[in-house]
Amino acid sequence: MIKIEKINLNDIKEINKILSELGLIPYPDFDLFHKSDNFLCLKVVVDKKIVGGIILSIVLDEAEIYDIFVREKFQREGIGSKLLNYVEGLLLKMGIRKLFLEVRASNHKAINFYKKNGFLKIGIRHNYYKSPLEDGLIFSKDLRDA
Ligand SMILES: CC(C)(COP(=O)(O)OP(=O)(O)OC[C@H]1O[C@@H](n2cnc3c(N)ncnc32)[C@H](O)[C@@H]1OP(=O)(O)O)[C@@H](O)C(=O)NCCC(=O)NCCS
Repeated sequence: MIKIEKINLNDIKEINKILSELGLIPYPDFDLFHKSDNFLCLKVVVDKKIVGGIILSIVLDEAEIYDIFVREKFQREGIGSKLLNYVEGLLLKMGIRKLFLEVRASNHKAINFYKKNGFLKIGIRHNYYKSPLEDGLIFSKDLRDA
């Protein structure tokens, strides 16, 4: 059974390790922003081990996914979708209506994941990502339609 809980200071090393394993950028200043009301930082726990998580920023009635991630071994089991679904419910209760994110144009796994979960592509930021240089695709979802 999976549990979804707030990330606490003791988790930060592990979360950054998972992000690195997945080729995502770790957060050196995690401890600063995870305490802020403008961020929502949640982990997915299976058998007392962190297997994934999500980091979002919240501004007024909009939120942006900075990262959503599931350890390779646990991917394609519906964990990412359950986490997203849980977060969307939470955001709606907080009065947040729109969810945004940006993803590398080559990250087909994530693009499929977002499309499957009801996100629509609304724009492209050319050459937005560095190392390697790549376009960023912007997706959004109106939570009231979900
Ligand atoms: C994106 C990610 C969070 C999805 O998590 P997950 O738990 O594997 O996702 P789910 O099992 O809920 O998959 C839901 C849907 O996403 C799509 N999807 C997930 N993995 C996929 C893959 N390897 N190839 C193609 N589509 C995939 C499918 O449409 C899937 O539905 P299906 O299994 O019924 O076909 C995970 O792949 C991940 O951590 N990727 C690395 C980090 C990353 O790139 N994060 C996003 C950018 S911030």
